[in-house]
Amino acid sequence: MEFRHLGRSGLMVSEISYGNWITHGSQVEEDAAKQCVRAALDEGITTFDTADVYAGTKAEEVLGRALAGVRRESLEIFTKVYWPTGQGPNDRGLSRKHITESLHGSLRRLQTDYVDLYQAHRFDYETPLEETLKTFDDLVRQGKVLYVGVSEWTAEQIGRALKIADEMGFDRLVSNQPQYSMLWRVIETEVVPLSEKEGVGQIVFSPIAQGVLTGKYLPGQPPPAGSRATDPAGGDFISRMLNDDVLTHVQRLGPIAADLGLSMAQLAVAWVLQNPNVSSAIVGASRPEQVRDNVRASGVRLDAEVLKKIDDALGPVVERDPAKTVSPRRRP
Ligand SMILES: NC(=O)c1ccc[n+]([C@@H]2O[C@H](COP(=O)([O-])OP(=O)(O)OC[C@H]3O[C@@H](n4cnc5c(N)ncnc54)[C@H](OP(=O)(O)O)[C@@H]3O)[C@@H](O)[C@H]2O)c1
Repeated sequence: MEFRHLGRSGLMVSEISYGNWITHGSQVEEDAAKQCVRAALDEGITTFDTADVYAGTKAEEVLGRALAGVRRESLEIFTKVYWPTGQGPNDRGLSRKHITESLHGSLRRLQTDYVDLYQAHRFDYETPLEETLKTFDDLVRQGKVLYVGVSEWTAEQIGRALKIADEMGFDRLVSNQPQYSMLWRVIETEVVPLSEKEGVGQIVFSPIAQGVLTGKYLPGQPPPAGSRATDPAGGDFISRMLNDDVLTHVQRLGPIAADLGLSMAQLAVAWVLQNPNVSSAIVGASRPEQVRDNVRASGVRLDAEVLKKIDDALGPVVERDPAKTVSPRRRP
């Protein structure tokens, strides 16, 4: 496993990290979840990503149990706040009240005194940015959070937050967690250039497009049994990418991966890691074999000719519009 700096910070992260959205506390039983975490640790992954909202807070509990007993200093544990964790109007968003309360819940569930990275899971239009950033800064001073970041923020939002932090002397954002894959490249024109200039690293999610880039979903065929597409919680999210046009183009990546001696999943993870602004690619897995498959992408270099072949194979199904980075106008 190779390691990278998280943005311009001193923190090192494994360039492939493991995330537990959809899986822990929901799609997979606790045993399988623990086996995936064990496989991740065995393969050299040290960075784990979760969120308060995953599986209605159960995912953090499962990860906390799976990592219990592992030397804390050998791990980087990331979690997030924003999406609802309860019924009340203050059980959501990025207010001082919710951020503080949610972090305390996350620490309890994760069985740790601090998280390495605390991320604003979306931009909250209903809270002054100063309030959010001051609260993050306070939690850093209290030692409960070591670094702060965001997820799916636009370049303008990240830039505004950095300006406030510089003016007020608050801790700066070190990372952004966007969706990024061969199929979804919306960060490339605005978020990445700003982030490179400002020392913000991308921790990218769904690098395998939730499984689509493994090539296991075939055009005109029902999804394979036991896959995310057949899961009641995951099916809705992946369905947006499961159309025959996308799936037909994805099948063209098979020979490119085979020529390189890679699985399609490895090619997908290696592709996001070619972007130097990417600090880590967060992979998900419902089985330990998938973790073992995906980590082989660490250290793989793809040359310009291969990158061009990938672009030619996918052609029109690649999404590049920066306007697709959106947070809800009202809190959910
Ligand atoms: N910040 C955000 O808003 C946000 C949003 C989404 C995700 N995330 C983070 O990013 C992490 C990863 O997201 P993701 O799960 O969508 O990523 P992904 O790595 O693109 O997809 C993972 C899923 O694809 C399938 N898969 C993975 N490797 C495979 C392989 N080698 N062979 C066959 N199937 C394979 C598995 O699903 P099946 O076996 O069920 O088919 C697995 O659960 C999440 O856990 C979370 O930490 C963050």
